[in-house]
Amino acid sequence: MFQNHPEIREQFDMSAQADGSQPARLATAVYGYAAQIDNLPALKSMVEKIAHRHVQTHVTPEQYPIVGESLLQAMKDVLGKAATEEVMAAWTEAYQVLSEVFINREHDIYRDSQLCKVC
Ligand code: HEM
Repeated sequence: MFQNHPEIREQFDMSAQADGSQPARLATAVYGYAAQIDNLPALKSMVEKIAHRHVQTHVTPEQYPIVGESLLQAMKDVLGKAATEEVMAAWTEAYQVLSEVFINREHDIYRDSQLCKVC
């Protein structure tokens, strides 16, 4: 993803990539989401923290499908045979739902801080 999208690479703190702390935070968030999929209000504080960090680093709605493609491919690679069509279809749908939650919340934060480019 970073090779194909250098502009995304620039949004990240590369030391947190190198020491594995950012990938670990992403994996923890994805796991937390899966564990609470039937109780999404429990994720509110996690969503708030991540959404504010995304706004600080200028994440845009258009970037969600790009990150999603790499994330889903990485899951497929790690899961191997367990990544059945059904499992991957469920994760694709789950990623889309979570993306919408972030996009909506981040839109509100951009708007309230008058950083919104489309309002
Ligand atoms: C559902 C999808 C996503 C999830 C679950 C997710 C999760 C996270 C988490 C857990 C963090 C760390 C927050 C902290 O500082 O504690 C983070 C930070 C970040 N995310 Fe996301 N993210 C998602 C989508 C995206 C997208 C689409 C982009 C677009 C480029 C993005 C870019 C970033 C950046 C730049 C940071 C800051 C990293 C740093 O400090 O180096 N994320 N995200």
